[in-house]
Amino acid sequence: MAMENQYLSRIEEALASYLPAKDCLQKDVIEAMEYSLLAGGKRIRPTLTLEFCRVCGGDVQAAMPFACAVEMIHSYSLIHDDLPCMDNSDLRRGRPANHIQYGEDIALLAGDGLLTLAFETALSPESIKLAGAQRGAEAARLLAKAAGAEGMVGGQVIDLQHENQRAPIEVLLEMDRKKTGALIQAAAQMGCAVAGADQKQREAAVEYAACVGLAFQIRDDILDVISDPETLGKPVGSDDKNEKSTYVSLLGMEKAQQLVNELTQQAESALSAFSEDTAFLREFAQSLANRGY
Ligand code: IPE
Ligand code: IPE
Ligand code: MG
Ligand code: MG
Ligand code: MG
Repeated sequence: MAMENQYLSRIEEALASYLPAKDCLQKDVIEAMEYSLLAGGKRIRPTLTLEFCRVCGGDVQAAMPFACAVEMIHSYSLIHDDLPCMDNSDLRRGRPANHIQYGEDIALLAGDGLLTLAFETALSPESIKLAGAQRGAEAARLLAKAAGAEGMVGGQVIDLQHENQRAPIEVLLEMDRKKTGALIQAAAQMGCAVAGADQKQREAAVEYAACVGLAFQIRDDILDVISDPETLGKPVGSDDKNEKSTYVSLLGMEKAQQLVNELTQQAESALSAFSEDTAFLREFAQSLANRGY
């Protein structure tokens, strides 16, 4: 992703500031949480939270705890996704996967620690003071729902259930909307919630994020075939090895990328609902559609 993201350094700084201190007996788990959280992900989800807050006329700083919360949940989902009982993957963000570095037991608990730290961060007194109790509670609930059995966790289950079989396209859509789309959608919605956005803005944000979220997972499946581990920071050929159903396996490469492009156009169209400048969100969607990692 070549485009300029003015939020990145602020996100990195804020993420580091929310980690617990390590001067305690359980420092192993905090170190493992830090290892994955500060490992240099693309920070797509927190960026969406902050930018949607801005385009809805909100205070970007008030959205920061929620932006970090969604990145914590995303990072936990990656730790668990890589475990031997899930995708059994050794490499993540260009480094050994969490369980390779710290062992499966600590990796499991580091994931749990990040999941709970997300809500501690979103609902801290400082966060609620900035966002307001009602807006803060709404944002936290959106995140909880998207992360849970009706969202990301549910999508991961559908993914596991369809290993070694050819899932129909409707099932793939449902799976990807949940396993990847839900958190991306919640990221955008939280920005709207903190800004106190109106109905029209909220609907547009949902439409944009639903399209970008689905396109994002399809592009992830494409990269699993066409990229290399050095560029991607994670293994390639992993879906094939685990006999996963993906858009690439079902539709073929060309049609899969065509779908990514169509969804990206649809996402861009949704942006006409905002009166603030949406050039960043437009470019962001395009850069995700053609990303190399
Ligand atoms: C990878 O997500 C997992 C999927 C949901 C496809 P990202 O591609 O956003 O991973 P990082 O955060 O940049 O490492
Ligand atoms: C993972 O999808 C989605 C979540 C972690 C929720 P993948 O299994 O395709 O992600 P990668 O390719 O390992 O990053
Ligand atoms: Mg997976
Ligand atoms: Mg995986
Ligand atoms: Mg993948």
